[in-house]
Amino acid sequence: MLERLDRIEKEAAQELRAIAAEEALQTWKVKYLGRSAELGAIVDDLRQLPKDERRAVGKRMNEVKTALEATYQARIETLRQEALERSLREDVLDVTLPGRPLPHGRLHPANQTMRQVLAIWAEMGFQVYRSREVETDEYNFELLNMPAHHPARDMWDTFFTSDVGVVLRTHTSPGQIHVMRERAPEPIRVVLPGMCYRYEQITARSEIQFNQVEGLAVGRAITFTDLKGTLIAFARRIFGKQVRTRFRADHFPFTEPSAEMDIECFLCGGEGCGVCKGTGWLEILGCGMVHPTVLANGGYDPNEFTGFAFGLGPERITMLKHHIEDIRYFWANDLRFLEQF
Ligand code: FA5
Repeated sequence: MLERLDRIEKEAAQELRAIAAEEALQTWKVKYLGRSAELGAIVDDLRQLPKDERRAVGKRMNEVKTALEATYQARIETLRQEALERSLREDVLDVTLPGRPLPHGRLHPANQTMRQVLAIWAEMGFQVYRSREVETDEYNFELLNMPAHHPARDMWDTFFTSDVGVVLRTHTSPGQIHVMRERAPEPIRVVLPGMCYRYEQITARSEIQFNQVEGLAVGRAITFTDLKGTLIAFARRIFGKQVRTRFRADHFPFTEPSAEMDIECFLCGGEGCGVCKGTGWLEILGCGMVHPTVLANGGYDPNEFTGFAFGLGPERITMLKHHIEDIRYFWANDLRFLEQF
């Protein structure tokens, strides 16, 4: 049995020397030190030996086991050290190489305008209210005074979803109802920014997806004069103190009276050019006094409360400010365009 132990020790040492990878070392460990290793079988055989012989073999067996464990440990450390040295040698780092320049990120021009617009409204006391992009027909149309089949709905070409009565909002106006129902009967002064969707022909001026900023003020004794004064103050802050404005009568089902606000064309100074189509004026937003039906739908008594609302397009404002001729640049992700801002 002592010879058997000598043989195991010799064989194991020989095999270990030939091993060059850690995986092979684990296989070796299972073979010589694992549960079903030959050393284990010897323990079973020990019981059959006479007592004095048993002691000698037992002692030798422990020596062999300890020796194998020690060589295993030494070998694994050597292998790990070699692997480390190899990787240090192969992955040499040249600290003198010049770095790769990282391109600077910047805010999208539409977002720049959006932030500027919201900051101006915040200064004038308007809180930002975020509303949903997926709306029900009820909020997008009905509660805004456009019952089913009302011809005014044709003003907004709509994306319908596969759920009946659920649409992508065509404007930020449905948010008016959400705020009113949440705040009634408190006074309101909010702006509602966000993406809108229309099933429209894409042209230089119209996209199927664009931002709007809605504004809503509700309170006692708010008048059309407040609407005009507030919007003129906004135009001066965003386009400069000298800007001239005008209001034209218009129609929206959810405001009465309704208007559009124009600013004087800053390219031709009002004389008429290609950008203003010879009129001398550029349209920047739609607005009006909140329709009594809409106030009532929002939970406000129209005999006691009045309000004004407006809706503007940040992309169109960006186009005016930077003389951009085509709205399609905004979503084309062309860095040559985006890096100019
Ligand atoms: C509306 O959407 C009304 N909800 C605005 C409103 C709100 C009126 C509150 C009264 C009271 P209009 O369809 O005109 O109105 O759109 C408002 C603005 O959104 C436009 O002036 C324009 O700046 C922008 N806009 C509209 N359609 C597009 C489009 N296809 N692409 C880019 N911008 C657009």
